[in-house]
Amino acid sequence: MEKLSPSALTEIDTIVAKHRNQPGPVIEMLHEVQNSLGYIPFEAMEKIAEAAGTSPAQVYGVVTFYAQFTTQPKGKHVINVCLGTACYVNGSQKLADLLAEKTGAGINETSRDGLFSLDATRCLGACGLAPVCIIDGKVYGNALVSGNAIRRIEEIRAQEADHG
Ligand code: FES
Repeated sequence: MEKLSPSALTEIDTIVAKHRNQPGPVIEMLHEVQNSLGYIPFEAMEKIAEAAGTSPAQVYGVVTFYAQFTTQPKGKHVINVCLGTACYVNGSQKLADLLAEKTGAGINETSRDGLFSLDATRCLGACGLAPVCIIDGKVYGNALVSGNAIRRIEEIRAQEADHG
């Protein structure tokens, strides 16, 4: 496990201190840590558990129950690839594999360089464009045939290389 930065630890301490001795604060503290750091590190779960008088295991249970919480840092660029039925029959698994290869991020993981997170999702409501993925909030339809999503990844890589 990577060590947290001092600023992240201070942020967690501030959030926990604000909610200490208040009723039912676990979810609120988790939301604030998630919003502030982009994920919930294990250290935060320990501190939240201590403040709420519960165990880290119970807090962990809450974190894993709600889809909006994540225990891994997200990449700078977030990709959602749809593995819903319409996309699946139109090759979304191949699209997901290509995106994984180009980004260096496994499915539901973040690349080692921290640039990309690749998350599998259910139907995005754009089945007519299957297979579909979303990169940084923008929809890329017919992504396998058109190659648009892969081109976007290459563009991002080039931009990031320029900005050093
Ligand atoms: S199944 Fe992918 S958008 Fe509906």
